[in-house]
Amino acid sequence: MTVPLTECERHPMTQLGSTPRAALDRMIAGAGAGRSQLADIVDEIGPVQVTDIVIAELGHRTELRGCVPADTSLLFEHRGKIFGVLARAGATGEFEATRLADPTAADPDVTVEQSLSEVVASLFGPRGTAAAATRSIKWRDTDAVFGVSLPIFETVRRILDSIDRPYALGLGELCVAHGSDKWGLHQYTQHYESHFEAIRDRPLTVLEIGVGGYSDPRRGGESLRMWRDYFCRATVFGVDIVDKTALSGQRMTVLRGDQSVPADLAEIVRTTGLLDIIIDDGSHLGSHIITSFRALFPALRDGGWYVIEDLQTSYWPSFAEHSGDHTKSPTAIDFVKTLIDGLNYAEADNRTDRDTDAQIKGLHFYHNMVFIEKGANRGAGAPQWVRNA
Ligand SMILES: C[S@@+](CC[C@H](N)C(=O)[O-])C[C@H]1O[C@@H](n2cnc3c(N)ncnc32)[C@H](O)[C@@H]1O
Repeated sequence: MTVPLTECERHPMTQLGSTPRAALDRMIAGAGAGRSQLADIVDEIGPVQVTDIVIAELGHRTELRGCVPADTSLLFEHRGKIFGVLARAGATGEFEATRLADPTAADPDVTVEQSLSEVVASLFGPRGTAAAATRSIKWRDTDAVFGVSLPIFETVRRILDSIDRPYALGLGELCVAHGSDKWGLHQYTQHYESHFEAIRDRPLTVLEIGVGGYSDPRRGGESLRMWRDYFCRATVFGVDIVDKTALSGQRMTVLRGDQSVPADLAEIVRTTGLLDIIIDDGSHLGSHIITSFRALFPALRDGGWYVIEDLQTSYWPSFAEHSGDHTKSPTAIDFVKTLIDGLNYAEADNRTDRDTDAQIKGLHFYHNMVFIEKGANRGAGAPQWVRNA
């Protein structure tokens, strides 16, 4: 049964993408706090806006392809009041939600009621926070559902799983689901997981250079969606030379900029603030990679990661910037090799470039990619007499 439009307010997902970052940041931080503190934060932001944030999150986390179009009423309770939405699978399996002006007027196939704070904690809290202690589920036709398994169960299970199991999918699964090439031709996701799994549930700020889709402004964003869904508490930014800002949504902001232009990079950092993870998957030209590293590395937090993908282009004539001659401008591989010397700067005589030496504590090389780990590198060198002995 469909609720007549007069009883509800259409609430397209695109509008929900414009949630102010401060409110979202506050809510994500609060999701790791105690339940009564979180309820105060919901008061502060306003339960209607919090409901919108929850629904936008469910919108991109819930895959309803192949599901029957059951009407699911989601009633979120906060301080005795109900904030309701009607959810169903759209024509191509996307999660569609309509805010209910009068939740009691709807006659859905199933009604799920749960405390708003508990849902927020489940969606945005650290690993192990998800709970359904306040949840009740009422099927409209109890006789029909008794003792049988109905297709509608699968629809509702998927919606509720997206609340209860935010960390269920691994990076490889998310990569394939969103269509990024970081798994397939490249085998990058295994390396990302080995470094990022331990920090997956932190409220991180992530920036990726290169949104994908090249000249088409409507295409791309695959890896950004993968990061958004992998890091459930993160704010993800993407930057591309082509204007792909229309791909922005909740927890995923696309900026326009050229990674070879320091002024563009400075503007990007003004927008993002300090970063925890930076990934360079942009033009793959050596000079651009070096310019971006110099401009962005200072904005990386201590303990953060700077990843450069597709280093194989350093060996390809088509990516050499001086008429195919790599000897005339340093490649990305030439550059990252200097960082290895920098790791041992305390012991290396005659080393000139010391900009980042004391701030890089680890370098992890894999096939075609490097992970640069920011952190204090202040080991004392051996005394001079040992070196000269
Ligand atoms: C390999 S694709 C990115 C793929 C995406 N990161 C993924 O994994 O799904 C490279 C992108 O970099 C963008 N790009 C090329 N040159 C750039 C530059 N100078 N600055 C910023 N982006 C650039 C291209 O427009 C293209 O969309």
